[in-house]
Amino acid sequence: MSKQQFVHKHLISLEDYSKKDIELIFKTADQFKEVLNRQIKKVPSLRDKTIANVFFENSTRTKLSFELAQKRLSADVINFSASNSSVKKGESLLDTVQNILAMKVDMVVLRHASVSAAKFIAQHTNCAVVNAGSGTNAHPTQGLLDAYSLRDKFSDLKGKKILIVGDILHSRVALSNIRCLKKMGAKVKLCAPYTLVPRSIDELYDVEIETDFNKALKWAEAVNMLRMQLERQNEAYITSTEEYVELYGLKSTHLKMYKDLVVLHPGPINRGIEVEFEVADARQSIILNQVENGVAIRMAILFLISQNI
Ligand code: CP
Repeated sequence: MSKQQFVHKHLISLEDYSKKDIELIFKTADQFKEVLNRQIKKVPSLRDKTIANVFFENSTRTKLSFELAQKRLSADVINFSASNSSVKKGESLLDTVQNILAMKVDMVVLRHASVSAAKFIAQHTNCAVVNAGSGTNAHPTQGLLDAYSLRDKFSDLKGKKILIVGDILHSRVALSNIRCLKKMGAKVKLCAPYTLVPRSIDELYDVEIETDFNKALKWAEAVNMLRMQLERQNEAYITSTEEYVELYGLKSTHLKMYKDLVVLHPGPINRGIEVEFEVADARQSIILNQVENGVAIRMAILFLISQNI
């Protein structure tokens, strides 16, 4: 595996990573992808490391993908879910993590509803922290695996036109995608009703906003269909689900019109809302490739960070 310079002890947000860092992660993931296609899918790279997956929010893909990545790297792994833990008795985030670290843990993979949770733990403990999703702000490994999956399709992301559609206001995936894709030279456009677009996002991230889905699709080479985050919506942002599906849902008729369009979705999918039921399984969909690539990307980031602890 590559021993190129990688200075980071944490992955909190892709804001902290350069294009060179991301290229090294992709190159390292390529090597691990090759390992994952072997009969014996395991390497000893992290056999001296112990990693805790600390999840304060529900997860299927991220949690399983991190755990599998850690096991493929031969790390010792422990898993914590807030829902069946002493958090239910009032224990704080910091006390929880400090108790886990007292068991001689080297790295924490953390998912939390607070935007600053991963940064807070990195600042107040000595362990390495990998952010597995923090509030509406960042989901850096999802941003990496989405960009990596697009790189598989296009070879080079430079100048590629990537459309991000849907509930951008509540989406940590959207921000991590924007940060990663922009650094890799892609052109990024957002499409949603204005009520689901954060104020000033176009100026902050140098992206365009288009509220007309049909116009935006005509422009795009790939489209990332975000989940409607109903659990985060505490007021009515759309008139009705039916109207949203009509105006912003990706349908089979679109795929017939744009035969080369590449379709992504970070999951979990609300089939029948952001994408028509059969769109998720269409030829243009790379949704399961994203999940497959997630393991290699997470192996790469765990391996590179482990060089600095
Ligand atoms: N994409 C994603 O973060 O999915 P999970 O919530 O299932 O981990």
